[in-house]
Amino acid sequence: MKRLITFLAGACLLATASLSAQDATIRVHDAGSGVTIPAEIYGQFSEHLGRCIYGGLWVGKDSSVPNVEGYRKDVFDALKALKIPVMRWPGGCFADDYHWMDGIGPQDKRGYLTNNSWGGTLEDNSFGTHEFLNLCEMLGIEPYISGNVGSGSVEEMAKWVEYMTSDAKTPMADLRRANGREKPWKVKYFGIGNEAWGCGGNMTPEYYSDLFRRYGTYLRNFGDNRLFKIASGASDYDYNWTRVLMKNLVGRGMHGISLHYYTVPGWRGSKGSATQFSDSDYYWLLSKTIEIEDVLRKHIEIMDELDPSGRVALLLDEWGTWFDVEPGTNPGHLYQQNTMRDAIIAALNFDIFHKYTRRLKMANIAQVVNVLQAMILTNDTQMVLTPTYHVFEMYNVHQDAEFLESEVMTPHIRTERKMAVPEVDATVSRKDGQMHLSLVNTDLKRAKKVLVTFDEAGIRSVVSARVLTSRDVRDHNDFDKPEVVKPAAFKDFKITKAGLEVTLPPCSVVALAAK
Ligand code: AHR
Repeated sequence: MKRLITFLAGACLLATASLSAQDATIRVHDAGSGVTIPAEIYGQFSEHLGRCIYGGLWVGKDSSVPNVEGYRKDVFDALKALKIPVMRWPGGCFADDYHWMDGIGPQDKRGYLTNNSWGGTLEDNSFGTHEFLNLCEMLGIEPYISGNVGSGSVEEMAKWVEYMTSDAKTPMADLRRANGREKPWKVKYFGIGNEAWGCGGNMTPEYYSDLFRRYGTYLRNFGDNRLFKIASGASDYDYNWTRVLMKNLVGRGMHGISLHYYTVPGWRGSKGSATQFSDSDYYWLLSKTIEIEDVLRKHIEIMDELDPSGRVALLLDEWGTWFDVEPGTNPGHLYQQNTMRDAIIAALNFDIFHKYTRRLKMANIAQVVNVLQAMILTNDTQMVLTPTYHVFEMYNVHQDAEFLESEVMTPHIRTERKMAVPEVDATVSRKDGQMHLSLVNTDLKRAKKVLVTFDEAGIRSVVSARVLTSRDVRDHNDFDKPEVVKPAAFKDFKITKAGLEVTLPPCSVVALAAK
């Protein structure tokens, strides 16, 4: 592992001067940018996979687990505090096996199926359209529905939209009323398929483009409901997929195109453990996760070329870490633990996403409970909040805030991957008269003295300060020790003539609010 000093263009002199006294300098352009960070960057993803829905979000009204109309009360309350703007459902790969009519009506009359994508588990459809949309309504979440292109039909998808959103006298709206819901729900985001290049039908981009046009034609806007139709986009480095879809679908009803990028330490055959890794594994994975910046930039370049006026949004509707499942758990259920490493990864990703919101309008971490880089883990009646949950909570101040560009002058750590890891990283935004600074120290051993300077008025006082850190990067919260990693009050800062001086502990995320 090599360390190198990397300066941002145009800032070398300032960096040289300040780095003698500081480990890093952050110059904040607080005149303003006029760019708002879309709240939807903080989106979630909930799939019928493992214990995400059953045992995670939903236990049913008759469960001995305390619940609010069938939703786990502890999870429900924790999600409320997170201020989730949007949540995707029912998949993922499951979406292309899902037939929504099996999941409506009386619980004991619902159809069942084998979840062929995820461990062959029996799916009893007790959590369906009503249960998902009511949860969104109760938590103030915008629903994002993923429709079935792979094994469904145009008719089935068109009827689903009518069922959810029509207020008129139509067959599907009448069926909804008969099932106990008088008024339609508001549904904005609608995905036409998922991973159409893979589990969603193994299609070519040309073939999928035609299908998108056909399906999209019959997804109607009922009343004042306006659908935002999302095409099933590329995985990682598949730039050709984006290019073909943009060529075929701009101006043809596509409002958004998705992208999936997972942070997988897959270089040794297996994906590696979520909790047992070396320090160099940690830095390697950080350099892999920040490669997303390159990936975003390249997909955006193609979109800029084929849609210069920016009509089509990019939605990163699956992202996060993907490790081996916890020993002894179903390999198809993707249940993994979550350490301080996941927290740092979440923070670095947000810092990147915020820079691309001119085109990137949504991101949905995979997944909300018990699956992959989850916010929450449950076990019968117990629940723990993961380090990733805490980052989402500490960063949610940036939702709908004005993004303030900031130049971070910091040494970088090099691994054998292309992207060198910044030792210090940051996001700064402003909302309701307060400036919010999120600062990250990726260095596992050394605290970092950081000087934050401001171009304009700067700040007069810090009104709140919290830190997320732990003795060891492998630390995590488990059911016998649920609070190993949690935010704490932070005091290691002072306002000086030069700006704001902060000392970040090793491997930490710090959130400051200032006036
Ligand atoms: O999030 C798990 C799976 O990853 C999703 O079902 C699929 O879309 C992706 O491959």
